[in-house]
Amino acid sequence: GGGTPKLATKINYVKVEDYGSSILYRLTEVFRVAINKAYPNVEWPPLLQETANRKHGDYQCNSAMGLANKLRQVGVNKKPTEVAQEICDAVGQNPLIKTLGVSQNGFINIFLDDNHSIQQFVQIAKQGVQFPKITKRRVLVDFSSPNIAKEMHVGHLRSTIIGDSIARLLEAVNFEVLRINHIGDWGTQFGMLIAHLYDKYPDFLTNLPKISDLQAFYKESKKRFDEDEQFKKRAYECVVKLQNKEPEFVKAWTLICDVSKRYNQMVYDRLDIKIEDLGESFYQDKMIELINFLKQKHSDFLKEEEGRLVAFPTGCDIPLTVVKSDGGFTYDTSDLAALKYRIFDQKVDWAIYVVDSGQSLHLETIYAAGRDMGWYKPEEKRVEHVAFGLVLGEDKKKFKTRSGETVRLLDLLDEGVKRAAEKLVEKGRDKVMTEEELKVAREAVAYGCIKYADLSHTRTQDYVFSFDRMLDDRGNTAVYLLYAYARIRSIFRTANVNQDAYDAFVRSASLDTLPLNMPTEQRLIKHILKLSDVIILILETLMLHSLCDYMYQMATLFTEFYNECKVIDKKKDGTEIVNMHRLMLCDVTANVMSKCFNILGIREVPKM
Ligand code: ARG
Repeated sequence: GGGTPKLATKINYVKVEDYGSSILYRLTEVFRVAINKAYPNVEWPPLLQETANRKHGDYQCNSAMGLANKLRQVGVNKKPTEVAQEICDAVGQNPLIKTLGVSQNGFINIFLDDNHSIQQFVQIAKQGVQFPKITKRRVLVDFSSPNIAKEMHVGHLRSTIIGDSIARLLEAVNFEVLRINHIGDWGTQFGMLIAHLYDKYPDFLTNLPKISDLQAFYKESKKRFDEDEQFKKRAYECVVKLQNKEPEFVKAWTLICDVSKRYNQMVYDRLDIKIEDLGESFYQDKMIELINFLKQKHSDFLKEEEGRLVAFPTGCDIPLTVVKSDGGFTYDTSDLAALKYRIFDQKVDWAIYVVDSGQSLHLETIYAAGRDMGWYKPEEKRVEHVAFGLVLGEDKKKFKTRSGETVRLLDLLDEGVKRAAEKLVEKGRDKVMTEEELKVAREAVAYGCIKYADLSHTRTQDYVFSFDRMLDDRGNTAVYLLYAYARIRSIFRTANVNQDAYDAFVRSASLDTLPLNMPTEQRLIKHILKLSDVIILILETLMLHSLCDYMYQMATLFTEFYNECKVIDKKKDGTEIVNMHRLMLCDVTANVMSKCFNILGIREVPKM
């Protein structure tokens, strides 16, 4: 629901135990203490952020304006700039900070102490890139969740990509993650599918039919269902028999589900997606129990309306239909049963539903019902719809094939691989790479680009699917980042430094041995230190484009560094000097990128 201040509970919920290299966090603490010291009688939060323009410093504190207002209310008249200056005075000398400046409006501009940043960087080089330490939680991510019989479409692909990446992020901070495929494998549509199966493959029990195109099979049966009263009647009979678990009908149902699951699994395998099936059919008995439970414990919650059993959760305009007039259950019933199961049986602290924005009303109504019945308190458990926009074609309309059909995902992935192959040839990579290396690169580029294009766009907005754009190696794309990454790794190879010698250098590295004083070196270092802030932010927002932006900036800063600073210095007489401290910067940059690729589900390619 809009307008509710969800962020407050979210921040409490993600409990950070160790902020790692976070400069932002340390600065926030410094200013918290300073504000307290300067104004012990008023309470005001330290508001810190990165500056938009680096001329104004690395970070800024925006607390003085609001604080001046607050002071006026208690009879103290001070200009924001005066307040800002008093905060600065209270900060005094701090090893984190080189200088502080007050802007005309009362912003405090913070210039970091470079030595402090370098020391933090050395720590990372020695210990390896680590994520902030966060109190462990048990999280369920409901994602992908296609419907059987209707083929998985690009909307499910978005859910698959976003959900997998969220799960990877949560795993990276050591959460226990349940990756759940809430597939639509139950419902009245199976009646017509089974009836059609009996007609088309009468011997299906003994002679397993090969249904290659389930989509066509679905269409055929739907057509008959809509046009043929006799068939429709039989379809309903099949539903009843299936619900009564008559073995033959269960077998028919399993057969149809398997065809669909096999296809989906091919998509998951290609995209390195791990997910566990726990679909709607799992809740058959649980829905019956749920209705009994509701009638006994929450009868006040239910109403009968034209033969249907409905419920109006607090604050919701549209009721949930928990039992249809024919006695059947609905999508509402199964989701209500699933929510209960997730909370009480799977005992999750956090449930994430990665589903298109179109289902927002449905899900919010389910969550409201859960809260009404006291299943969970929003300040203790986070149950949330992680919504995403539509996938559009380049014509800005719903993504379809030229002939107006839904795009088959395997075809789409094939096309991606073909386009990636062309791109690699265009760049002359086929001349320097082996066939085996090319195959690895082709797939990494194709699948990486599809994922990155999705994740780098603001999740809640619609996004335009365009191979041309996602394979552009000059933009904010996976190809660009994969190239940047491979180049950094290749610098390391070219330097030809013995690994033991390198490790020894890193072990003994300290502020005095690292003359990292070029502006581009320092900017890159400061960016490396921001990783933990980005991670903490995304745990609150679940907006992965922040991580993409972070990576893109990193690649850009690296290029600036590389253009300005020689890692391998070729002397006139032909000898080469390797600047080890810069090699260390290359190595840490690549290691950070590698961690980020992993969260985005993108395979890295060491050579490209
Ligand atoms: N099968 C649904 C669809 O394709 C998505 C299910 C999402 N998860 C849920 N618990 N409702 O639209």
